[in-house]
Amino acid sequence: MSSSASEARLAVVTGGLGGLGTEICRHLARAGRRVVALDLAARTERIETFQRELADLGDSVTFEPGDVADFDASQTAIERIEAKHGDIDILVNAAGITRDASLRKMTPQQWHELLRVNLDGVFNMCRHVVEGMSTRSFGRIVNISSVNGQTGQFGQTNYSAAKAGVHGFGMALARETARKGITVNTVSPGYCDTPMVAAVPEDIRAQIIAGIPVGRLGSPADIARAVVFLAADEAGYITGANLPVNGGYFMSF
Ligand SMILES: NC(=O)c1ccc[n+]([C@@H]2O[C@H](COP(=O)([O-])OP(=O)(O)OC[C@H]3O[C@@H](n4cnc5c(N)ncnc54)[C@H](O)[C@@H]3O)[C@@H](O)[C@H]2O)c1
Repeated sequence: MSSSASEARLAVVTGGLGGLGTEICRHLARAGRRVVALDLAARTERIETFQRELADLGDSVTFEPGDVADFDASQTAIERIEAKHGDIDILVNAAGITRDASLRKMTPQQWHELLRVNLDGVFNMCRHVVEGMSTRSFGRIVNISSVNGQTGQFGQTNYSAAKAGVHGFGMALARETARKGITVNTVSPGYCDTPMVAAVPEDIRAQIIAGIPVGRLGSPADIARAVVFLAADEAGYITGANLPVNGGYFMSF
């Protein structure tokens, strides 16, 4: 059993300062977890706002700088978190970027930058936490993919490839770790009311909303609730699954 089982389990949320990441941190803390938001040190202005926004949760949510795109930096960040807070029980990989361009115009830099954060980042973080989770026979890993990894999206060959890759990675890791008490699942958000989607041109955003059966963008809380569900101790029989949270935008069996 985890050394932290007697106290609140420790969750690390990458991209924790982001639109979805912040809400995931909030919901995990409200569910009684201790939470570390891991994000780029460069986002200094956002760190202060984040701390103000989550002030009501006291010291159950803290911030640690780290770059998931870098293998060694990920290891350093994880070691620092473990030294300060103890064993990591829950990992939520929510760090992500977009570098949109149609394939005919996409540069190798746009391709590689995106893959380094959105797919290498998941490998880097999982690679450094799985050993400890296996030793302690408990772990919950939730990777944030996207509906665009399931359907493809114009101008997003890089993003769609990475997000589909995240789920393939998760299914393989789920098989490798199932006997160790670790679950690995994917949450695939549809279009959510976040800065990432606010950056989409107005007319395209209106078209997107018109195509969502529920008739609205998702809220960050819609996504966070799915993450909390999969991260629960009681969710041990759900692994290698993808949980779409998209308002019916894409339905599959
Ligand atoms: N917003 C949506 O509608 C939507 C839909 C589907 C999927 N997603 C996915 O959900 C996740 C969160 O999206 P969001 O809307 O909160 O985006 P966001 O841009 O608000 O947040 C992403 C966060 O990741 C951080 N980040 C970027 N590169 C990093 C790195 N190398 N190391 C550490 N942190 C890094 C950013 O600083 C930022 O805080 C992403 O993976 C995104 O692809 C979002």
